[in-house]
Formats: sequence, C-alpha cells, structure tokens
Amino acid sequence: MKHLIDPTDLSKQETDQIIKLAQDIIANREKYRDSLRYHKLATLFYEPSTRTRLSFTSAMMELGGNVLGFSDARNSSVSKGETVADTVRVVENFVDVIAMRHPLEGAPFVASTAAGIPIINAGDGSHAHPTQTLTDLLTIQRELGHIDGITIGFCGDLKFGRTVHSLIKALSRYEGIKVILIAPDELRLPDYIKHDVCDKQGIDYREVRTIEEVMPELDVLYMTRVQRERFLDEEEFERVKDSFVLDNAKMALAKEKMCVLHPLPRVNEIKPEVDSDPRAAYFRQVGNGKFVRMALIYSLLQWKDDPSHTMPEHQGRFEDPELRCHNSKCISNHEAVRPLFHRTEDGDIRCVYCDSKVK
Ligand code: NCD
Repeated sequence: MKHLIDPTDLSKQETDQIIKLAQDIIANREKYRDSLRYHKLATLFYEPSTRTRLSFTSAMMELGGNVLGFSDARNSSVSKGETVADTVRVVENFVDVIAMRHPLEGAPFVASTAAGIPIINAGDGSHAHPTQTLTDLLTIQRELGHIDGITIGFCGDLKFGRTVHSLIKALSRYEGIKVILIAPDELRLPDYIKHDVCDKQGIDYREVRTIEEVMPELDVLYMTRVQRERFLDEEEFERVKDSFVLDNAKMALAKEKMCVLHPLPRVNEIKPEVDSDPRAAYFRQVGNGKFVRMALIYSLLQWKDDPSHTMPEHQGRFEDPELRCHNSKCISNHEAVRPLFHRTEDGDIRCVYCDSKVK
C-alpha cells in the first residue's frame, strides 16, 4: 500500500503521474465528479489549518466522496491521552483514507505503521508537507510549462518551513535545478537538507543575503512566513520577523516570465501591492492545491491493492532501544513507538520519525 508521508514516498514517475492527473481533472472536471462516490476521507488535524484542511475537504467532495474528522484535537479522545496509533486504528474503521496534520514530527509516519488504509501527511511539525509540494510542482508546471531547468529562490524561514524542506527534496529529482537560499543566519536551511538532499543529489545551491541580488535570475521566487509558533525564543522571533519583504520595487528587477509562490498564510512578507502583478501566482496556487489533492486521493485509493505501488524500501533502517532522538518535537519523545533509526551512507545515524541526526 502507498502512503504519502514524505515527498519521496512517491517515485518521480508516480509524482509526475499525479501532476498529469491533476491537469486532466482541471480540463475535465465532469469526468471525475462521481469517481469516489461512497468513499470517505478523515481529516485528523491536531494543529491549526485553513486552506489545507478545506482543500482536502473540497477535493474529496468534488470527487463525490464524504469527509469527517476533527480540526481541534481538544474535542477528541486525544485530550484523554489517546496515542496517534490508537486513534488511527479506531478511525480506519470508518473511512477509506486519512489526512493527518500534527505538531509532532513523525506522527503521520506512526499512523502509517498502524493503519491498514492510506495515510496522507498534511504537515508534521517543521518536518514535511508533501501535499503542499505536489501543489507547488503543479503550480510551477502550469505557470512556466516545465519544472526541469528552473532556478528557484527560497526566501524567509528556511529553518522551520516544512514546505521548503519538502519542495527541495522533490525538486532534487528533476533535471538542472538551481536553488538559491535567501534567509537570515538564524533561519538558514537545516544542514541535513543541505547535505543529504542538495549535496548528495547534486543540486546546485548557494546562499545569499538579499532578494535584490538574485531577482533577475529567478524563474520562481518561493516566499515563506516566519514560523512564529516553532520558535523556542520569542526575542529571536522579534529580531528576524521582518527580514525579507517583497514589494513592487523588487518585482521590477525580475524576469517578465517568472512566478512568485507562497504556501500561505502570508503575514507581511509580500506587500499587497504585489498581488495584482500577473507573476504573483500564490492565489492560483491555492486552487491547484485542491486539484492535486483530488488526484492524490484518487490515485492512493486506486493503488491501494496494487503491488506495483508500495512504499519505497528503506535501506539501513534498524531498531535500537539504547538510542534516543534528541529532537523535543519528535513523536518518539512523546509516545511509545519502536526505536527506529536509519544509517546514512556517510555513517550518520538519523531518527526515522523526524530525520534529525542522532549520532
Ligand atoms: C504552510 C504550512 O502549514 O506549513 N501552509 C499551508 O499548508 N498552506 C505554511 C505556513 O504555515 O506558513
């Protein structure tokens, strides 16, 4: 069975297949109207969300299916101390597929090990957000006509921004991608992504200090919000919160054919004056999110019993009760889960739940 916990759980071919299907859905909406009639999706959201949850809901409804779930874990048995694994074992009796958002990293992975139905990660802590990645890929494809060969600038909170981590991972499988990282020192991309993804996959990347110096070479500018809720230190947040703001003066330096993406919500990192620029694609991106989630849910249910669509093999994975993950936001430090680790090619040991380095 196929779950979507990390963007690389889908092969490049499966990713492209979903993007293509989303484009077919956009072109032939009638054709898919009743395709998941009598099917149900549960949205288990343990963390605030507007567009992601509504977009899953709308996607399932547009396929003719139904949706149930919670958007505030305080109103569910979780507040009585139920584990993620138990909640999923209960909910799978009621639905065909589950989308889960959780503040603890690795929670959707735990769900996938407990469930007999497909699990979709709708965002876990600062870790991953693979359905936003599919949204971003579809948007780039539709705005520019191609994904291979783009130069993409990521701006803002590259440390805590899970959408950035997931998109870089996914882009590492396309040809000729150039990544430019635009962030203050405090919000730089985590080393594990630089080393494991960029260096190993041969992504050409560099770090710069200002938007202006790279604007003319960008095909995509990916803006992000500074993730206040993930800072452990309020003073540090205050220092960096207004680091980079996109306005019309900076847009004037950009190519005529380029696009500005943002997973939203924006706070003040894009001035409203930019919204009317035809290259501002962030509200179109939201619409693409619905179509790509339709394609994803449809595909996961179709692939459920197909042995050619299974989870990728994870080489180097092992269990060791003596080891512990040091990440306080990792589910392995909150719930009793198997002590699973992963040895990388360089000999590093990483937590399977949150990817952070253990040794
Ligand atoms: C993002 C998220 O939740 O990670 N938003 C989203 O899914 N649309 C980005 C954010 O919260 O800043």
